[in-house]
Amino acid sequence: MFENLNNLIVVLCRTISTRQLYFGEHPKVASLTAEFLSQLKLFCEEHKMEKLFIGIIEGNLVFEGRNLVGPSIVGKQFIRFADKLHCGGFSFAHQTSEEEFKALLNLTSELNKPVENLKEGRELLVSRDIFNIEIAHHYLGSSGPVSRDQQSAWQGQDTGDFLHSPTLIYQALFDSVAQAHGDVMRGNDIDIDNTKSVSEYMLHFTQTHFSDMMQHVHYPDYDSYTVGHSVRVAALAVYLAHSFNWSKEVLLNIGTAGLLHDVGKSRIPEEILYKPGKLNKEEFSVMMAHSQMGAEILMGQKNTTHLDVAAAWGHHIRHDGSGYPSQPKWAIRHPITSLLQICDAFEALTAARPYKPVLTPHMAFAIMLKDKGGFNPALLASFIATVGIYPPGNLVKLSDGTKGLVIRVGTKIDRPTVKIMTTPTGEDIPPDDQYQVDLNTPEHQSLAVSKMLHLEG
Ligand SMILES: [Fe+2]
Ligand SMILES: [Fe+2]
Repeated sequence: MFENLNNLIVVLCRTISTRQLYFGEHPKVASLTAEFLSQLKLFCEEHKMEKLFIGIIEGNLVFEGRNLVGPSIVGKQFIRFADKLHCGGFSFAHQTSEEEFKALLNLTSELNKPVENLKEGRELLVSRDIFNIEIAHHYLGSSGPVSRDQQSAWQGQDTGDFLHSPTLIYQALFDSVAQAHGDVMRGNDIDIDNTKSVSEYMLHFTQTHFSDMMQHVHYPDYDSYTVGHSVRVAALAVYLAHSFNWSKEVLLNIGTAGLLHDVGKSRIPEEILYKPGKLNKEEFSVMMAHSQMGAEILMGQKNTTHLDVAAAWGHHIRHDGSGYPSQPKWAIRHPITSLLQICDAFEALTAARPYKPVLTPHMAFAIMLKDKGGFNPALLASFIATVGIYPPGNLVKLSDGTKGLVIRVGTKIDRPTVKIMTTPTGEDIPPDDQYQVDLNTPEHQSLAVSKMLHLEG
């Protein structure tokens, strides 16, 4: 039950965060809306419920007394919306119509200021012809808005395991960046604390499941690439910094700075940001302004660190001091800005973009190494050694015909550890029977990676 519920809430939260980035009729919003409504119906039918009630207590989503830890992190935008409506939960009737749900989504994007009280929130919903989605009082102990069974179970267990899914971690990261960009577009403050909290999850996950996460971070989806790019840059930066054994606090700050480094792009006109071709001179000079704008935006926020501002300002400044924004040659650069600059360039070279082919890491490293003065040489060398020619998260084919997922980079950068997922003849191996092959060990010396699959098919 809880797995279905988690999925349902994640779809709901994704729909809300997607609506913050796109207009209501956008195909992405429409397909997520359809997915949410069909899952809602199924969930209600399966559990014989007229309506699904999701409570919110002290910033956490709660269902039948269970504190839904994972969805609470993914669902920050949903929780903030509840705050604006002064409510302690939403109930979605199984017959909620597409029009009603769309009207609610429009409100999530349009409602800038909180309403005065719950009554006003309810009137607002009714004024938008929303009848099958209701909002409830805050939880008030014994006289709360939900059934007695639910009330008696408010202090339920935690479903923290939820966040062990790389898809959801990725989604939380993605939402947090999308939310920050959406907030800037609408002139609201950025929820820096939320960015920090997802950065903490990213850090935890990077240490244990980096390859799983990077698999999700391949996002060949052009119009979300600014957001996907930021997540991937942040994950690469944390991964590299982790290999230096830097303190947890520094790693957290790097993650947050990485997630926010391109926030200035939210002020760049879409026709330039998503132009399906190379930018001309004027367009490029508009685009270049995103670094300075990002730094200015972050300086105006509470709870940002110097590093967030420095990373937004300096991630396009090259090692020799050229690049943009222009600054005096003597100006000191923070080493972490140089680290993010490397991750940023690598991500841009290896990712899918409307105007360029996807390059292999090997090709990207060759370009970066040739670019004299472009990057801090010592950091670039560490980056190449850490990420490897076959970075974790990539699917590869080995010389014996088996296929698998790169788990770790070896001491030789072209000999990673691979989790084998198919037989040499291409049959899938069940997850429990999959095994790891370390190409660095003598018994596997005859094997080699023959190609990267997501790039070459
Ligand atoms: Fe940038
Ligand atoms: Fe960037």
